[in-house]
Amino acid sequence: MKNKIKIPYSLKTLFKYISPYKKTFFASILMIIISNFAMVLAPNIEGMVTNAIIKDLKNIASSIPGAHIQIEKIISIISFLLIIYIIKTFSQMFGMFFITESIQNTMRDLRNDCIKKINSLSVKTIDSHPKGDILSRITNDVDTISTAMQQTFVNIISGIMTVTFAFIMMFRVNLLMTLCVILFIPISYFIIRKIASISQKSFDMQQKSLGDLSANITESFTGYNEIILYGKQDEYEKKFEKINSELKLTAFKAQFLSYFMSPALSFITYISIGLISVIGGFYCINGTISVGQLQAFIRFIWQVNEPLSQVSQLSSQIQSSLSAMSRIHEFLEYNNEYDVEKRDISINRCISFENVEFGYGDKKVLKGISFEVNKGETVAIVGATGSGKTTIVNLLMRFYDSQKGKIEIDGIDIKSINREKLRERFGMVLQDTWLFSGSIKDNILFSNPNASETELKKACKLANLEEFISSLPHGYDTKIDEEADNISQGEKQLLTIARAILKNPDILILDEATSSIDTKTEKNIQGAMDHLMNGRTSFIIAHRLSTIKNADKIIVLKDGNIIESGNHDELLDKKGFYADLYNAQFSSL
Ligand SMILES: Nc1ncnc2c1ncn2[C@@H]1O[C@H](COP(=O)(O)OP(=O)(O)OP(=O)(O)O)[C@@H](O)[C@H]1O
Ligand SMILES: [Mg+2]
Repeated sequence: MKNKIKIPYSLKTLFKYISPYKKTFFASILMIIISNFAMVLAPNIEGMVTNAIIKDLKNIASSIPGAHIQIEKIISIISFLLIIYIIKTFSQMFGMFFITESIQNTMRDLRNDCIKKINSLSVKTIDSHPKGDILSRITNDVDTISTAMQQTFVNIISGIMTVTFAFIMMFRVNLLMTLCVILFIPISYFIIRKIASISQKSFDMQQKSLGDLSANITESFTGYNEIILYGKQDEYEKKFEKINSELKLTAFKAQFLSYFMSPALSFITYISIGLISVIGGFYCINGTISVGQLQAFIRFIWQVNEPLSQVSQLSSQIQSSLSAMSRIHEFLEYNNEYDVEKRDISINRCISFENVEFGYGDKKVLKGISFEVNKGETVAIVGATGSGKTTIVNLLMRFYDSQKGKIEIDGIDIKSINREKLRERFGMVLQDTWLFSGSIKDNILFSNPNASETELKKACKLANLEEFISSLPHGYDTKIDEEADNISQGEKQLLTIARAILKNPDILILDEATSSIDTKTEKNIQGAMDHLMNGRTSFIIAHRLSTIKNADKIIVLKDGNIIESGNHDELLDKKGFYADLYNAQFSSL
């Protein structure tokens, strides 16, 4: 139902992308038409050769004076035939070249626009759609359309042309014989529909088994250490063998059924050819048609049969590419993050939250948060997991906008500030560090590509990275793997701290950046963070006592409200939630 509504829109989107290449596209259609025209013309001319020879032979047999095989005439017909074959070959080649060129250009533009779209989406939209699904739209869905267009487009035009030309030629030979052939089309169509509907189910099952199989392989591979640790190799092998057998069975059914289509259709064609031979033979004897014409007619029947046998394959490809296109269309229609405001900002006094309320959908997360941070101060946000700590910084950077209340920087509501300009003021160090495949240097320079060599080295020194980088074989040029597996968790965090230092932001956000590392690395990280926080307004969500203890202000979140705030000593004196938390978590440190 969903697809039915979207098909016209998705086709419109597709046409929009094809339109810059319409000249190439129409050139390809023209070439396909020429090659098909040449193809249907060929049997006629082949028939002319046969006719000429038979006529000469008849004349010789009837001892007509001067009768002989007219070699020159035959050669000239064959030469003409040769030219037709050459035209067919070249128009086919150019047709394929033009169609491939226009389709591949269209797909490149589509992929580029998808990436542009991703970069213009709001965090809210990105968060509310599974990333794997978006990824699959840009890769698999575009690929499905590309393959389907490449394979079906030529076939559809050729099919229509071939059948039309073949029928015109057949009508020209004999009306009754052509009507007999037309009679067989519904029978072929019925067989195609029947086999296709059964085989489509098997194809779906085959795809599902294939999906199960790759999921199993991925699981065995990613969980390799755990599997050998718990000695589960046999169990996994058995699981794999079971899925593998299912795949074999479904693949056999799907392949066998689809192979069955062709002989079944050929059988129908043989019957129609048998019938035509009887009628045609009769017409030949009474001189209504020639043997050459009968020969050509039978070749035309084969030409009609071929596109028919491709119908099922084409229709499933068209269906899957239409649904792929509607998925891409839907993605391209997601709302962009759009800023009307051009206003810039700098922080000179303070950042304040005033009765801020926010929820993701119906779920209320913040129920009226108010606090103030002066320039250069550090505020630590403390609270149980899920209490809304990350949500507070999401609002501050306008990844999401609050539903009630205001967040102000120097008395200016951040909703009136241009998002890009606002975000330029922030530096972030998050626990799940993000590094990309490239050199260490590229990764640090990511926040400030114009930084000088001296600035880069200074940032690395402040981030306590000097020792680590000098121990690497290629120093700053050492490559980081795609998954950043070749460096440790702590080193990754130091790299992101260096990245933040290099950006030199006014406001700093540290979200749980110091957990799960050894004491030496923690000291390193703490030192690096102290450098980073020095003189900046910082929001830290930390589980580490040392960071929280030194904060100018601690706010404690519970059930969407600030239940306590003050500095470390004040809060301990209160003997409230923070004191309990401190005693439970940190007293042993
Ligand atoms: N994108 C989202 N969509 C819907 N709900 C969300 C989203 N992000 C967070 N939440 C929910 O909002 C609540 C607050 O989340 P938040 O990430 O702010 O918690 P947190 O205090 O940072 O927790 P943690 O200490 O585990 O990081 C949680 O219950 C969470 O499930
Ligand atoms: Mg969080």
